[in-house]
Order: sequence, then structure tokens, then C-alpha cells
Amino acid sequence: MRDLAAGDFKALVRFGVRTELLARLFHPLGHAREVGFEKIGIEEQRGRGDLTFREHLNYDNAVLAPLPVLSGSNRISAMRPTAVNAILTEMRILQAQGKSLISLMRGEPDFPTPAHIVEASIRALRNGRTSYPDNRGEKSFREAAAQKLERDNRLRFDPGTEVLATTGATLGVFAALMAMLNEGDEVLLPDPVYDAYQSPIRMAGGKVRPVRAEIREGRFVITEEALERAWSPAVKAMVLNTPWNPVGTVLRRDDLETITKFCERRNLFLISDEIYEAITYGEAAHLSPLEVAPALRERCVLVNSLSKTYSMTGWRVGYCAGPAPLIQAMFLALAQSSRGPATFIQDAAAEALTGPQDCVAAMREEYGRRRAQVIEQLHGVRVIAPEGGFFAMVDVRESQVPSNEIRKRLMHEHGVAVVHGAAYGAGGEGTLRVSFASGGENLTHGLDRLREGLAR
Ligand SMILES: Cc1ncc(COP(=O)(O)O)c(C=O)c1O
Repeated sequence: MRDLAAGDFKALVRFGVRTELLARLFHPLGHAREVGFEKIGIEEQRGRGDLTFREHLNYDNAVLAPLPVLSGSNRISAMRPTAVNAILTEMRILQAQGKSLISLMRGEPDFPTPAHIVEASIRALRNGRTSYPDNRGEKSFREAAAQKLERDNRLRFDPGTEVLATTGATLGVFAALMAMLNEGDEVLLPDPVYDAYQSPIRMAGGKVRPVRAEIREGRFVITEEALERAWSPAVKAMVLNTPWNPVGTVLRRDDLETITKFCERRNLFLISDEIYEAITYGEAAHLSPLEVAPALRERCVLVNSLSKTYSMTGWRVGYCAGPAPLIQAMFLALAQSSRGPATFIQDAAAEALTGPQDCVAAMREEYGRRRAQVIEQLHGVRVIAPEGGFFAMVDVRESQVPSNEIRKRLMHEHGVAVVHGAAYGAGGEGTLRVSFASGGENLTHGLDRLREGLAR
């Protein structure tokens, strides 16, 4: 239910806006749901001064395409919901029809945030840490981030001018793109890759140029040839993600040398999203591109957040590090939208980064057990064992069936939700992304359903 002033409604109707669109426009979940409109409810209440929109899910017309946008902004109409959000819509509809579904889809750790971090935020609240934060980030948080970068990544940044607090990695990537791009600039994106990079690139006026990854010796890699093939004179920046969502590659020194040398040669900016750095397996260990290529320092922004490492997805807190002029430009971009995470959240984040790190090791071990479970339970299925992150790619190329069709069949006939690889770019076709961010029975039963569905 959503109340609107009668005047708002009448004005919009007089302008010829269809009531159905109005219901969509004012629906609090906007793009996530297809909303119907009970005209009768409106008619009945019109006389009373206030109008009540009653929304109901319109299952028959449910769509995954973005809803019409009334704003008239071309920039906004180029935005797309992520694949996970679109599939969630589909799941909710099936669940409302009584279907049992297990999700092996989301990138959300199922651990509670470690107690000492929660306590730090409670303490901060009790101490009255509720006023506006420093818009670049609280000094204590920026210092904690600089300390962490030196401890874990062997990188030195000045917390005064080279570190910026952000509302999660999402806004870090957004601010970096806003700071780097002009209209028409092109951005290289590994293909496949996390699909939420595309919309902010467009929002910043950029265009995506995919760099087609290939599977070599059981892992997705980016070759120099692929980089050169993708390059054009309009390319200004590249976004890199290591450990790499969705494919699970942790870029090695030689991988990074290829990529960073190319960026240097072509004079590109690099945005390095390192949000999964703490989740690596076996021999694989995270390396920041800047460790390999210090010469890129003046053109590289490192983006990180506490979402995955400390199971703090809902806290919305992250940080960026880069050269002072770029950080200053990013700060100006962010000041127009978010003014940084809440003060008491930053206090807790500082505690997370500088306090005991055994919680991180414990979560990594548990992900390691789940990873082994995925490989074991999916015996007979080709799984590309991840080197990092909490997604495994199932290789279904042999079936010759589009990955989205397999995904739909798995969901509708076998009750398990995964993401089709093609959602992350053409290079992901022939694969399915299976998340083990959630464990326990969810994972066990979900994998059973998946194996059964793939055996057909
Ligand atoms: C590669 C990658 N970057 C960024 C994000 C968003 O991170 P945050 O929660 O810090 O905004 C995600 C979330 O799934 C991700 O997978």
C-alpha cells in the first residue's frame, strides 16, 4: 500500500499518465516487481481526499525487462537490473504460486557479522557518534583502511588525501567511473564479469567494451591478444575484479603483469575491485594489481569493502585508495549523491579492519569446506573449481543448450535457482554460476536438486 495525495494523482492523470504506470512509478520496490493496479480501490476512495494505491503482484504479466521509466532521462533508461535481481523477481512469483525453491544464486554470506564489530557500532551509538561524518570518511576509518592496505596488500596510501570512505564497493566503483570518464569514453570489462559494472559505466557516459576471457587449463583467463582485440582509441579505463566474480579465477602475478603492462602501454585508468580478496583457496593468494605494477599508481583506484570479508553486506561500508587528484575527483562525485557511510558504521568498520582477524580466517575455512562439498556433491558434473570467491562455475558447454534455458529448466522443473553464465557476458555462455555463500541444508539440498536437474 502506498498513500498519495489526491492532488498528485489527479495532476498525473490529467497529463494522461496511465494508472498502471502510476502504480509502477510509486511502487516502493520500483524495478523489482511487476505491479498491477486495483482501479476499483481508487474509484472508491477518490471522494475522500486521499487516494490509496493497492498493489498486487500481477503474475500473468510478470516481466524481467526493466519497467517503463517516466522520468524522460535517457541516462536512466540505459540502466538495467542485475541478473540476480531479475531472477529474484521470477523466484518470488513462483514461490507465491506455492513452488518450493532453493537459491544457490546470491552473493551474500550467511554468517552473522562478528560480535566485536557489532559491539563497536553499539558503543559508537552510545557515545553519540550520530552526527554527520567527515564526507571523505572519518579520519579513524581512513587511517584504519590505510593500515590494512599496508598490512595485507603491502601498499602505502596517505589516509589524509589518498583514501575515501564509500557506501560499499558499489559507490566506490561508481565514483571512480564518474571521476574518470567523459561522454563517449570506452571502458574495458572482462567478459564474463559481475554484471553490475555495466549500468554505472553507462551512467558516467561511458560505453562497455568486453574483453573476451577464455578457459585455459581449467581457469578463465584474459590474454594479451584479447586485450588488444578489445582496445580502441576511445578506451580510457579498465575495470578488473580479482578474485573474479563469477568465474572464480584469482589473477596470478603473470596474469596481472599482462593486464597492467597493457594498461600502461595504452595509458588507461584501472579500477581494481578487490572485494573478494580474503576468500581464496589452496595455493591461490590475492595480489593487488598495484603490487605488481607500481608504475600504475597514478592511474589506478583500488576499490574494496567490508561486505564479503566481514559478512557486513547490510552495513554498506567500503573504501577506495588512489592518487590524491583522483580521490579528490571521486569525493566530489560522491558528495552529490552519498555523503559516506554513517559515522557509527565507520567506527565499526575501523574496528573490523584493525581488530582481530581470526573471524576472517574462520569464514574462509568454512567457504573452503563448502567449495569441497560443491565439487563432491556435483560429481559427474563439470565444475570449474574456484580459486577464490564463493561461486563455482558449472561447465554445461557440451549440452549446446543456452545457459539461460538450462537455468529456467532447473528453476521450474527442479526447484533450484542459479545464474546463467550468459548473464555476465557472452563469454559466460555455456556455464552456470552456483553460489556457496550460503551453506548448511540450503546448500546440500540445492546441490542435490542441481545434480538431478543436470543429469537429465
Ligand atoms: C565483484 C563485486 N563488486 C562489488 C560488489 C558490491 O559490493 P558492496 O556490497 O560493497 O557494494 C559485489 C557484490 O556482490 C561484487 O560481487
